[in-house]
Amino acid sequence: MTDLFSPVKLGSIAMSNRMVMAPLTRNRSNMEGVPQPINVTYYEQRASAGLIITEATPISAMGHGYPLLPGIYTDAQVAGWKKITDAVHAKGGKIVIQLWHVGRISHPSLLNGAQPVAPSGIKPAGKAFTYTGLVDYVEPRALDATELPGIVADYVHATKCALAAGFDGVEIHSANGYLLDQFLRDGTNKRTDSYGGSIENRARLLMEVTKAVVAVAGSDKVGVRLSPVNPFNDMKDSNPQALFNDVTEQLNQFNLAYLHVVEGGIHGGGVADPFDFDAMRKLCKSPYMANLSYDKARGNAAIASGHADAVAYGVPFIANPDLVERFRQDAPLNEADSKSFYGGTEKGYIDYPFLNA
Ligand code: PHB
Repeated sequence: MTDLFSPVKLGSIAMSNRMVMAPLTRNRSNMEGVPQPINVTYYEQRASAGLIITEATPISAMGHGYPLLPGIYTDAQVAGWKKITDAVHAKGGKIVIQLWHVGRISHPSLLNGAQPVAPSGIKPAGKAFTYTGLVDYVEPRALDATELPGIVADYVHATKCALAAGFDGVEIHSANGYLLDQFLRDGTNKRTDSYGGSIENRARLLMEVTKAVVAVAGSDKVGVRLSPVNPFNDMKDSNPQALFNDVTEQLNQFNLAYLHVVEGGIHGGGVADPFDFDAMRKLCKSPYMANLSYDKARGNAAIASGHADAVAYGVPFIANPDLVERFRQDAPLNEADSKSFYGGTEKGYIDYPFLNA
């Protein structure tokens, strides 16, 4: 019987099990976006996951939206990440990096004074997390169409950096209200040029980015993450089913390693709309990675039914570096402490106990 513990290949990524560590922002790099020794320990501890997807990682200086994020665009960052990929590979694990541009979810104080950019000049509700605490978001600057090739080039540069750092692949972050998702959904994209209006136009930047990244990395090393009904970051769309069914079908042209889908609202935010994930899944010709609030039983059921080829677990991997072994044994799980999710020290990061520790 195929279950969470069965091997699988997503594109060229051969996984020893189907439990994926989901991307998790932890804010523990340095001011230059260079991964630190504690980051090496954190990922190495979790190498028994079938696949690790790193925390979302800015592709450029303008891609940052929170303090102490790692980046993947300078030589020092590549050298820092290389220590992480080496440590994970030495333990027999696989690791891909999630490529991120936050768009409007940022603040000038995180961007050397620059105004955040977005498809349209619409300020998000809520507050930005900055080095001096929570502050109101500012109205972003609508990107000129002539600037978009530069953003595609930043994704290409980051992909080359990721390959140089030894990653098994890259995941394009097109979810959760960040730049590519801001283009997809019509609550944030009010453009009147060829990047706004119709679904085809709103999906254009994601398709251009995916095409360019696939050309550098190879389609068997590229995944894409979507979040059709996640309202986080003040997101909405007038017809998510039509939009994301279409995006799924368009992405089929790339033979991606996988499509990764956040099947709900993160941070307990509920869902923006009803949505038929099975219908979207049936349109997808790539391996399908399901995420959000899965436990062992639901994960196994999703694989047995053919809904998912792999299942990504977030918070459980924060608190349980050996989550795979714990699921295998039906052992009790450590509880995650949400106070140490974002920033801080070793505490709540690399000190969660292993079984029989
Ligand atoms: C977060 O920091 O809350 C966060 C970051 C990236 C995501 C989602 C949430 O994709």
